[in-house]
Amino acid sequence: MFAINGKDAGTPAVEGESVTLSIDGAEVTVPAGTSIMRAAAAAGGAIPKLCATDTLKAFGSCRVCLVEVEGQRGYPASCTTLVAPGMKVKTESEKLRQLRKGVVELYVSDHPLNCKGCPADTHCELQSVAADLGVTTSPYGFEGATHQGAPCDDSNPYFQFDPSLCIACSRCVRACDEVQGTFALTIEGRGFASRVVASQDEPFLESECVSCGACVESCPTAALSEKPLALIGRPEKAVTTTCAYCGVGCSFEAEVKGEQVVRMVPSRDGKANRGHACVKGRFAYGYATHADRITTPMIRKQITDPWQPVSWDDAFTYAASEFRRIQAQYGRESVGGITSSRCTNEESFLVQKLVRAALGTNNVDTCARVCHSPTGYGLKHTLGESAGTQAFDSVMKSDVIFVIGANPTDGHPVFASRMKRRLREGAKLIIADPRAIDLVRSPHIEADFHLPLRPGTNVALINSIAHVVVTEGLVNEAYVAERCEPAPFQKWRDFVSQPKNSPEALAEITGVPAELVRGAARLYATGGNGAIYYGLGVTEHSQGSTMVLGIANLAMATGNIGREGVGVNPLRGQNNVQGSCDMGSFPHELAGYRHVSDATTRALFGAEWGVQLEPEPGLRIPNMFEAALDGSFKALYVQGEDMAQSDPNTQHVTAALSALECLVVQDLFLNETAKYAHVFFPGSSFLEKDGTFTNAERRISRVRKVMQPLARLADWEATVGFARALGYEMNYSHPSEIMDEIARLTPTFTGVSYEKLDRLGSIQWPCNEAAPEGTPTMHIGQFVRGKGRFYVTEYVPTSERVNARFPLILTTGRVLTQYNVGAQTRRTANSQWYEEDVLEIHPQDAEDRGIGTGDWVGITSRAGETVLRAVVTERVQPGVVYTTFHFPDSGANVITTENSDWATNCPEYKVTAVQAVKVQRPSDWQRRFHEQNEQQLGLLRGATAAARSRQ
Ligand code: SF4
Ligand code: SF4
Ligand code: SF4
Ligand code: FES
Repeated sequence: MFAINGKDAGTPAVEGESVTLSIDGAEVTVPAGTSIMRAAAAAGGAIPKLCATDTLKAFGSCRVCLVEVEGQRGYPASCTTLVAPGMKVKTESEKLRQLRKGVVELYVSDHPLNCKGCPADTHCELQSVAADLGVTTSPYGFEGATHQGAPCDDSNPYFQFDPSLCIACSRCVRACDEVQGTFALTIEGRGFASRVVASQDEPFLESECVSCGACVESCPTAALSEKPLALIGRPEKAVTTTCAYCGVGCSFEAEVKGEQVVRMVPSRDGKANRGHACVKGRFAYGYATHADRITTPMIRKQITDPWQPVSWDDAFTYAASEFRRIQAQYGRESVGGITSSRCTNEESFLVQKLVRAALGTNNVDTCARVCHSPTGYGLKHTLGESAGTQAFDSVMKSDVIFVIGANPTDGHPVFASRMKRRLREGAKLIIADPRAIDLVRSPHIEADFHLPLRPGTNVALINSIAHVVVTEGLVNEAYVAERCEPAPFQKWRDFVSQPKNSPEALAEITGVPAELVRGAARLYATGGNGAIYYGLGVTEHSQGSTMVLGIANLAMATGNIGREGVGVNPLRGQNNVQGSCDMGSFPHELAGYRHVSDATTRALFGAEWGVQLEPEPGLRIPNMFEAALDGSFKALYVQGEDMAQSDPNTQHVTAALSALECLVVQDLFLNETAKYAHVFFPGSSFLEKDGTFTNAERRISRVRKVMQPLARLADWEATVGFARALGYEMNYSHPSEIMDEIARLTPTFTGVSYEKLDRLGSIQWPCNEAAPEGTPTMHIGQFVRGKGRFYVTEYVPTSERVNARFPLILTTGRVLTQYNVGAQTRRTANSQWYEEDVLEIHPQDAEDRGIGTGDWVGITSRAGETVLRAVVTERVQPGVVYTTFHFPDSGANVITTENSDWATNCPEYKVTAVQAVKVQRPSDWQRRFHEQNEQQLGLLRGATAAARSRQ
């Protein structure tokens, strides 16, 4: 897409008919629309350049890239001049050299070549162009208007802007516009007075800049540069790996010096991110070496005892003896495990294998239970596969983009940038969200329809959209007739056509005016390729699974599945939530979503693992908590998950955790759950291990070890050690062998291997004999289940109703700079942008309660009470309040209830009836939380000191 033979080709690749021309006497054939500069790169040459780079459209400002074209007067810029058939181009001549030299000497008069000590020394494009042309100083002198002496802006914690090194090439401005889509930068003034300005001439930190780093990466000098580059020095090597934050799964070159990461550079050939990144993946990796990391295994008898540092072997032996004691005393089913969506596929696979094979129970679940389990249910039933249908690239062929209950600019920022690029090219946009998320209106983007529905009324909304499609004759009849089961379709058609499902009838429930629903439905059904992207605003409801069914119904009815540009696309939250589900982490399914009741599947796994597997599904996470409270569930192994912060009704969760006799937590930090643990296995960050993550587009990408595990063992090795201590042999020398086992056992993975991943870069499953290089688009020609199946989606209001006591609806979400429970991002400079969870409240509701921005607000629900600071804003609608859950002491989940999805138990985080009142002090729960936190940190400090003294 960008570089040629690993070198910056100056302008982006284009598609078109072939054109043959001659460059310096050699014939070269390139697509029509290619620049002469790129054609020269394709021919093996390199024309000097400063303002051009192959990730950005040509700009033509620096005039360094001049060439001669036979039959043309003057010296055209090769970056902005396109090839033509038969064109004869000369890229080198004495005249060109003199012209280029003159231009560079002018630049050097503003940017003297005092390169020693500059962070870009030996990697600066100006330095290298000057050297090639033999320019060492400027005949123009260094007087007059220059950028010299302008103060450096180091407000951003991760990069600095030194205007004295700026050559006003505008690459940063164009990167912000074209790649990121934030439009935070401009060039102000002309000639030597021109300068780069963030927002209204503000420091970067206070501007609209979202710190994605695209400008830094595009800067040809060190005017914009990463701070660690100056502190640590230039990297010695680069290791290709995958971001450990969100489900976009960006590929990075981790550039390291010794064992220290100098910077993370998004891979240009990364198929998920195409060379882009966000503030988390590019900059917020400092948590991996944070002082809070625990690097010694620890045990204790009671959670009020001090932690005792022990060897890995002692920790394994103690944990195993406790699990076996508990099974002997309370029965085999009294124990279980939880896999992590932040760990690798191989690690999740091993944890569920340990639970099923070593402990002999199906009591294994994963944190996807609380986010995307309805996606698995809904898409499996309608389409036949529990995953999104497209590759991210597909959005570039969409004509109508329908975003439901997702906030991509905060939750999936790199994909959001790609989506915004397509929207700027002219695609239409529909957003269904209770809040006016950024995408509703942002620079050069305006939603064609924003459907501001009331939280909890998704199914009513999708039914009313379907009603319009069916009753206005917008069904793609030929597609449905060919590809879907006729009887269920007819049943669905009859159902949605009923007058009770019309937008007019449902407007009172959804709060969305009927004409908006009708307009949006017509646009989606008739606007060309229609693609649906949805998030937790769809799944985390009592009717989460019903809504996923409804989305799939709508896509099938309009023929929007089975080719590029369309599809049903869940935007997965965590980096490996798709993978942890694929790996058999659910209590009812083995890897590849095969039910444990299926004897053939059990026999296959049983033979490989040398055990007899149980045919009955095990306990889901909420059932484990219930069983812990009723005394029948006593031991739990939790890898990389923090239910005490992330699961609903915190007080219920902590009561259940307190009732366990042995809780083993494997994590980087003493997270909230670990405060209830008896055994702590220190975890390893993504920089410390090998493995794979699977992103939201089913893309399996390699995670590669950049440094040795701080605690000596990678997470997969700790699971192997625990299994062996339990008396169950696991024998792997490298995670590639775990992947080989997954491939042997899982039909959608049979073609996956580390060798192939290394060769292809990444693979979208299914990858097997039928699709040896993977499957970017699913359901082409026919659905995985054969014929697509429609389901009737009756709207059933949630039992979580507002009333006089709880008149507001609380809904939750996330912000760009923090991530999930915040355990990683809170330990980075990202907290400079967001240092506490706040409550967004509409001005009307705030006025009724005498609440102003910054006031403490007590929020009470049927489950509990907490106190947050208020932000009064029209982003939320009257009657709705909103918060995030990135900080443990804000207790957002103290107030969320245990209401959950009827099919999967996914909690209804998005709808909690609450009251909000102005208060003066923290809640009782918060006071208790702080006391317990202090106590637990004290117990940890003793162990840390003891571990240090032993070293
Ligand atoms: S860091 Fe990203 S958002 Fe900020 S100015 Fe640079 S390109 Fe724009
Ligand atoms: S900061 Fe860098 S990229 Fe931006 S105009 Fe200056 S030299 Fe060019
Ligand atoms: S978009 Fe997601 S995967 Fe990509 S860098 Fe940001 S957090 Fe990482
Ligand atoms: S590189 Fe062509 S004008 Fe700057």
